[in-house]
Formats: sequence, structure tokens, C-alpha cells
Amino acid sequence: MRTLSPRLLLVISAALAGVVMITLVLLSAAGAVEPIVAVELALSVMILGTTAVIVAGGRRTDGKALRIDARTKRQDAALARTEQSLTRLTATLDGLTGRLEDAARDQSRTVLAALGEDRMELAAQTQRLDRLSAAVSRVETAVRQSADDLSDLHKHHERLTGAAVHAARDLGERLDELGGTLRHGQADLARAARRDYAQLEALIDVRALLEPRAPLPRLRGWAASPDVLRLLIERVAADHPKIIVECGSGASSVWLGYAVQRFGGGRIVALEHDERFAEASRDLVAAHGLQDVVEVRHAPLTPWTAGGETFPWYDTRAVDDLNGVGLVFVDGPPGAVAPLARYPALPVLLPRCAEGAWFVMDDTDRPGEREAADRWLTEHPELTGFAYPAEKGAMILRRTPR
Ligand SMILES: C[S@@+](CC[C@H](N)C(=O)[O-])C[C@H]1O[C@@H](n2cnc3c(N)ncnc32)[C@H](O)[C@@H]1O
Repeated sequence: MRTLSPRLLLVISAALAGVVMITLVLLSAAGAVEPIVAVELALSVMILGTTAVIVAGGRRTDGKALRIDARTKRQDAALARTEQSLTRLTATLDGLTGRLEDAARDQSRTVLAALGEDRMELAAQTQRLDRLSAAVSRVETAVRQSADDLSDLHKHHERLTGAAVHAARDLGERLDELGGTLRHGQADLARAARRDYAQLEALIDVRALLEPRAPLPRLRGWAASPDVLRLLIERVAADHPKIIVECGSGASSVWLGYAVQRFGGGRIVALEHDERFAEASRDLVAAHGLQDVVEVRHAPLTPWTAGGETFPWYDTRAVDDLNGVGLVFVDGPPGAVAPLARYPALPVLLPRCAEGAWFVMDDTDRPGEREAADRWLTEHPELTGFAYPAEKGAMILRRTPR
């Protein structure tokens, strides 16, 4: 049977007690009950109520204890079941733990194995990286070396370029000089060709006029050139000079001998200061059979003085017997004797010349001979003179006929 809770009992008791007491108070006030009786009744009610509450509380406490006991038993059973479950759970957990440990070990081994492979791969990669790094380092060194080499090469190239520029400039200057020299050379060659042609032409000309009987001596060089010989032969052919005086013997002595034989009946006196050349010229003249028209006179150089000046000239005694000279070829003494060594020719021979005599001075391209000829013209206004464009330069002077 279900019992009332003590609290409910207390409330009911208190309510009843209250009702009783109120009733008693009212009864007492109404005079129906004596106050003392009312108090005794109130107290009795209160005690009764309190007792009911206590009894109800005890009964309730007993029930409660029984319920607690039953509950405790149920809880024990539940605990036992829970314990069993826990035991099973523990066993399950143990199994799981073991499997987990095994799995973890397997996983660990797998991971370690994988890590090992990775480590080996890593080591291999590291080695490759090391090798690569070493290669890169070598390449870097090579690049640096190459850069240094390039820098050296660049400097060398700059030096070479500078040297090449200098060399090119020098070469250019030398080429300019060479070009100038070549141009001069070309001009010289052209002049020489023109001179050679003129000499050849003159030689052909005089050889066509004359008929040499023996090999002729070489012309040009120390000997007279064909152009001057042609000039002399023209004078012989035109004027038929009775006497021709030649200062300086040699090849011209032979040519003049042939000219005299060919064009006129005069003779040639060739003055020669050197005994050996005098002999050689005589032999040459004899070889051509010209000894009848050509006389080579040895006349050593002797001091000749005029106007306070002295010149080495042929001994004048060699011409003392000559008069009526129509042509004088001044081709000696050699220039090496003295610059004005030929100067005395005109002052010495002019008095022995015929009217209208001709003087031909060779080698007037040389200053000494040119000066001597100029002096003649200056000192003898009766002379007319002009330059003749011969290879070595020539001056023609003539005493104007009166
Ligand atoms: C300019 S040469 C001219 C000689 C000459 N009028 C002639 O045309 O052949 C003048 C002098 O050269 C010298 N001579 C002559 N024959 C020579 C020779 N074969 N070699 C070098 N000198 C010579 C002589 O002393 C001569 O008087």
C-alpha cells in the first residue's frame, strides 16, 4: 500500500490543527468551550498530528529503506552486468589493443621500410645533388676562368686591335708613300720611256745618215747621247765646218768623223786630258778608218786664269794652231774635275772661230755647266744662245754673223 509522504501528512496535520485551533478559538470566543479546555484540546490535536506525522514518517522511512534495498540489489545486478560487460569490453579492448599494436607495428615496419627506401632514394638524390653541385661548381669555376680568359682575350684583343689600328695606320701611311713613290716612279718611267724613245729615234736617224764601218761604241752614260749627236751632225750637214773642236774625246769623235766624211770636207780635233782615254779614242777612230778626219790630241789639264779666276782646262797649246773653227762641242773636261772646268772653252776658242761658229755645251742639266754657259752669254753679248731639249740638257750658242 502506498503511504502518504511525511510532507503531505505534515501539511494535512497542520491544516487540521489549524482548523481545530480556529474552531477552538471560535468556540472559546463564543463561550462554548472553556479557554483552558480549548488550549488542552489544541495541544492534544497538535500532539496527535505530530505523532501521526512521525508515524507516517517512520513508515515511510521503512518503505523507503525497502525500496532502497531493492534498488540496491537491482543496482548490484546492474553493476554485475556492467562488470561483465566491462570485462568483455576489456577483453575486446585488449584484443583490439593487440591488433592495433600489431597493425601499428606493421604500419611502423612499412613506414620504416618506406622511410628506408626514401632515405636511400634521398641518399642517392643527395649524392646526385652533391655530384651536380660539384659539377655546377666546376662549371662555375670554368665559367669564371672563361670569364677571366675572355677578359684577357678582350684586353689582348684591344691591344691587338690597337696594334692593328696602328699597323693599319702605318700601313696606310706607307701605302700612301708607296703610292706617291709609285706615281713618281710611273711619271719617271713615263719620262724615261719618252727619253728612250727620243734617243732611239735620234739614233735611228743618225745611223740612217751615216754608214759605220765597225761596231760603234756605246752612247749615253759617260758618252754623248744620240739627241746631241744628231744636233751636231745637223750642224755639220748644214754648215760644213772647216774645223770642229771637240772638248773630250770618245764615241762622239767617231760619230763626228763619219758626219764630216758624209757631209763636208772639214776635220775634227778632239782634245783629251787623259792620256789613256786619248789612246783609246785614237784606237776607236782608227778602228773606223777615221784617222784622216779625226785627230785626238792629248792636252793635260792646266790652270787657266781670267778675271782673277783660275780653272783647270786643257793645255791651250793644243789649240794654238787652230783658226776658222766652225763648230765646238764642249763635252769635257769631266764635271768631276771642277764645277766650272768647261768655262774656259769659249774664251779660249772663240777667238779661233769663224764667223757664225756654233758652240754646243752638253750636260747643262748640271749646275756647273749651266753656269758656265750663262756666263758666256753674259760676257759675250755678240752671242745668242738657247737651250736645246737634249737628254742631259744642252745649250746652243752662236756668234751672230756680221
Ligand atoms: C763626258 S765624256 C765624253 C767624251 C766624248 N765626248 C763622247 O761623247 O764619247 C768626257 C771624258 O770622259 C772620259 N772618257 C772617255 N772614254 C771613257 C770611257 N770609256 N769611260 C769613262 N770615261 C771616259 C774622257 O776623259 C773624256 O774626255
